[in-house]
Amino acid sequence: MKEQIAKSIAVALKDQLTEKEIQHLFEKPKKSELGDVAFPCFTLAKKCKKSPNSIAEEIKNNLTCEIIKDVQAIGGYVNIFFNQSIVTKQVLTKILIEQHLYGSQQESKGNIVIDFSSPNIAKPFSMGHLRSTVIGNALANIAEKNGYQAIRINHLGDWGTQFGKLIVAYKRWGNQQSIANAPIEELLKIYVKFHEEAEQDESLNEEARAAFKALEDGNEEALALWQWFRDVSLEEFNTIYQLLGIHFDSYNGEAFYNDKMATVVKELEEKELLIKSDGAFVVEVEHMPPCLITKTDGATLYATRDLAAAFYRKQHYDPKKIFYVVGNEQSLHFKQLFRVIEKMGYGWAKDLQHVPFGMILKDGKKMSTRKGKIVLLGEVLKEAITTAKRNIEEKNPKLEQKDSVAYQVGVGAVIFNDLKNDRLLDIEFSLEQMMNFEGETGPYVQYTYARISSLLEKINEQRNEVSFEKLGDQAWPVVLLLEQFPKVISNAFEQADPSQIARYALHLARLFNKYYAQNKILAGAHIRGSRLAFCQCVAIILKESLALLGIAAPKKM
Ligand code: ARG
Repeated sequence: MKEQIAKSIAVALKDQLTEKEIQHLFEKPKKSELGDVAFPCFTLAKKCKKSPNSIAEEIKNNLTCEIIKDVQAIGGYVNIFFNQSIVTKQVLTKILIEQHLYGSQQESKGNIVIDFSSPNIAKPFSMGHLRSTVIGNALANIAEKNGYQAIRINHLGDWGTQFGKLIVAYKRWGNQQSIANAPIEELLKIYVKFHEEAEQDESLNEEARAAFKALEDGNEEALALWQWFRDVSLEEFNTIYQLLGIHFDSYNGEAFYNDKMATVVKELEEKELLIKSDGAFVVEVEHMPPCLITKTDGATLYATRDLAAAFYRKQHYDPKKIFYVVGNEQSLHFKQLFRVIEKMGYGWAKDLQHVPFGMILKDGKKMSTRKGKIVLLGEVLKEAITTAKRNIEEKNPKLEQKDSVAYQVGVGAVIFNDLKNDRLLDIEFSLEQMMNFEGETGPYVQYTYARISSLLEKINEQRNEVSFEKLGDQAWPVVLLLEQFPKVISNAFEQADPSQIARYALHLARLFNKYYAQNKILAGAHIRGSRLAFCQCVAIILKESLALLGIAAPKKM
């Protein structure tokens, strides 16, 4: 709508401003009595040395646009009132034609790499990794909706001195069968044991260093063990990805860059950026501690791998952007990393973006998956599914396919709870709250969708000529919100912020339920068609919003 109005204002202004500039100036009037859009004339007034109101009058008198019903020039503003029936028809028709593609960018914008989830092998999948997984996946979906090709990369923590310790621990205390049964629990157990024993026996650390050295030198036995630890851990992580319905295009983790770091280090040397300091080679970065590149014995570090990874991705995917979806606590690491690449003279350093997030709290305290040293994450998801099942048994015991609905609702609740707040905030994990059908929850949005779906199923009639007239009270705010959807999608991408879509879905569900409480959908045949079509539009957008967040929308629940 705004494009159309901007176009006619540009004409009225004889192109003194571009359509883009005009759109940029648009404001939402404080009260709906003041119109649907307001155009302030103050900047223009300064430029042309006229009073704001005379410009507003001028625009008002020259404005012609079929979607405008009324225009007022007041206090330096042009207040514009939409022609509700024309706008309604335009918006709803577009949604019915485009269906879930409404708001999608058709032109191809190139690749975007999203580095997310990225747990560490042989360690529990933490709540932080869960957040990264959920946020990263939503961002990938949102990027695709915005016309990008998303490359989903799981930068596994699969290299480092801890593997020397694990190898030693396994050889002493490991049991192949129990590791195969519960890989992460067992590997963690022997890893913890290693640390306990090493406190008494310093030689263990020596042994671990030697084992890691052997691994780095490509010793077959060490490599085979490492590969096995990696495989079984990944298999276990995959059960969580499966529950969440998330896939990756690449599991190239830290180890993948082992043979790709030397060239980067050499380039740093040639560019005279590498400085010896305190037993390490570092790159100095202003206003920050230096970035550690290698130890003096040549051992590489986390940052070295990330450096090599950035170059590899740049070469391999030529991405327009790379998002690193990693917790707050690694902010310094990414600042250093990006600055080093910039210092090397690469302009694309500006396309790298750390997307940080806060913690998950339980009763105000950091929630840990390690309680009692057992991996709890799968449990958490399963508990949500069980709660959903219980709710269904209570509310809708005759429902078909209860298990699959319970799964969609339980997992959806966990994901939505994570995504509905600004990602930088810490979030509270309360099963009870996140499952509440009436609260600001995933199930609430899903339930609204299911309600509409059963309505549509009940009256399964052909609707050829739909006028979109007589939708009833409270339909207009819903239409306006539907019209906003494409803008919400582009904002969510630009700000790397899935919460905008979650909040939008809540808002749409709430406004629709208000409408639904006041209007009979199944009224006389001449109104019914329009109202059902309107409901269908809401359903399409609710479902698509949930899909972007990585949440399913069951038709019945
Ligand atoms: N494995 C790391 C951790 O668990 C996260 C890796 C994030 N990605 C990256 N390219 N550094 O803390």
